[in-house]
Amino acid sequence: MGAPVVSIDGPSGSGKGTVSRAVAQRVGWHLLDSGALYRLVALSGIEHKLDPQDVEGHARLAGSMQVRFGTESERERVLLDGQDVTGAIRTEELGQGASRVAAWPAVRSALLERQRAFAEAPGLIADGRDMGTVVFPGAPLKIFLTASAEERARRRYNQLKEKGSGASLSALSREIAERDARDSSRAVAPLVPAADAALIDSTDLTIDAVVERVIELGRRRSLWA
Ligand code: DC
Repeated sequence: MGAPVVSIDGPSGSGKGTVSRAVAQRVGWHLLDSGALYRLVALSGIEHKLDPQDVEGHARLAGSMQVRFGTESERERVLLDGQDVTGAIRTEELGQGASRVAAWPAVRSALLERQRAFAEAPGLIADGRDMGTVVFPGAPLKIFLTASAEERARRRYNQLKEKGSGASLSALSREIAERDARDSSRAVAPLVPAADAALIDSTDLTIDAVVERVIELGRRRSLWA
């Protein structure tokens, strides 16, 4: 297969988004935020007024929606069918919606090749739940990032507060537990570490410390200098 891939999987709030972005920047590789694709399917369904239970309809949108990830004046932007949805897909509601559509095999297979196409030279940092197990099983470095449920809820809470949206810590804890349960128990591509993944528990680590660990693991595998 084409360019080398480093997969970074784990539950929401484990820090994988921030860590993946930082590692990609450090080594100059591309970044795939696969969760954003599931969020976009959920949003596209709402915009097309699909029945929330319409599996085929969502799978069709997963194959046909036009997605662009880009940056503008240093800010990351996500475009769906030409519309800027960068902020719109980051809500808890769309996180839940994404987790629901992500349990449907037809949606997952419609996104498979789209995700693999991101593996371009010099390499790809792939952030998600099944990057190391399903999408890039041959990845030369696989990371599974975790943190305690309390710590993950606290991080989400701080993130939302920074963005100015209100949230209650107890509601967030409940939602995170619900999402974990659904993502880990689904029949297809559940959230589990790949057999050959390096486990990193970030509960008591800073983001920088996690990034350093990933950089060191990549160095040991000669993925970068
Ligand atoms: O990482 P995130 O919070 O943006 O992901 C949103 C949801 O999408 C998550 O709850 C489960 C699903 N997802 C998935 O099933 N597989 C992936 N590779 C990424 C996300």
